[in-house]
Amino acid sequence: MVKKISIIGSGSVGSMLAFHILSGLDIKDLVLVDISGSLAKGIALDLEDTRGFLKFNTHVLGTSNINHIENSDIVVITCGIPRKEGMTRYDLFKTNSKIVIEVTRKIKRLAPMSLIVVVTNPLDAITYVVNKHSGFGRFRIMGMGSSLDSSRFLNLIYSETKISPYNIDALVCGLHSKDMLPVTSCSNIKGNSLDAFLNQGKIEKITQRVKERGKEIVSFLKNRSASFAPSLSCYKLIEAIVKDKNEIIPVSVLLQGEYGLRDVCLGVPCVISRKGIDRIVKLCLSVEEKGLLKKMKSKFLECIR
Ligand code: NAI
Ligand code: 2OP
Repeated sequence: MVKKISIIGSGSVGSMLAFHILSGLDIKDLVLVDISGSLAKGIALDLEDTRGFLKFNTHVLGTSNINHIENSDIVVITCGIPRKEGMTRYDLFKTNSKIVIEVTRKIKRLAPMSLIVVVTNPLDAITYVVNKHSGFGRFRIMGMGSSLDSSRFLNLIYSETKISPYNIDALVCGLHSKDMLPVTSCSNIKGNSLDAFLNQGKIEKITQRVKERGKEIVSFLKNRSASFAPSLSCYKLIEAIVKDKNEIIPVSVLLQGEYGLRDVCLGVPCVISRKGIDRIVKLCLSVEEKGLLKKMKSKFLECIR
């Protein structure tokens, strides 16, 4: 049973995620950690005041002292700097990997049985760093990125077709970056392939736009990046763990031979349960899609070297 969830980084994504957790899950402790203790405390007090409406029994703590994550069942890493206009996710690696290595060592010491959900960008590279520095089995570490991209893909398909979102299945795999792979062969509208509703030009327009969606949002927000869809996407992953749902969600995982790839973290569909990743789902990709996924290793390596 999941009793305690800690979120490291109480900025836009961390604080909204905390709100979703209080709204949807019955847990004993929710800990918000931030290097700015004052921010974490303020957010925690504001969140606590929703108790009158949401009626939760959860104890909420905001702190700069990471020792409070002790014995957490799930730890979410959202700390670091977000992408600003003109920056790529790769530009973030140097700064954010330093922060995350330090945090990961503390998670290892303080919450050795926990599952780790990674949000900090560049997502796949940071998920890799967490794998290397935690020593946790790879199935206990999940990077949230492709599920957000899949929701964005679904939204763009909806915008062009106006078919109910309930009838659309959209899947994006690979890197959480402009090099992602919208998997058109596994996306469908009530069992029909996308080209039954959209011409090739429209499909290309949508797949291009989803790759740039994060950047498109930053171009309007200027000094911060998206947070509503990312925090909800992260919540859905945590909900699948807490409720032991066996739900298939694409997450970034360390691949060890799956899809012909080794020693690289990429988003692929996984069965998510209380254990974290129960197993990796093997998709029947087209030859072209298989080739594109394989090519991602070099993009991934560019980022971590
Ligand atoms: P934010 O700037 O609002 O929040 C980050 C927080 O981390 C700040 O409050 C900062 O004080 C804190 N922090 C920095 N170093 C810390 C440390 N050592 N210990 C504890 N806290 C520390 O940023 P936002 O928008 O919440 O994004 C957070 C991260 O998530 C960024 O790297 C961003 O690029 C990434 N992101 C990833 C998404 C994905 O799909 N994987 C989607 C959205 C954001
Ligand atoms: C996004 O895609 C910043 O990774 C974040 O919006």
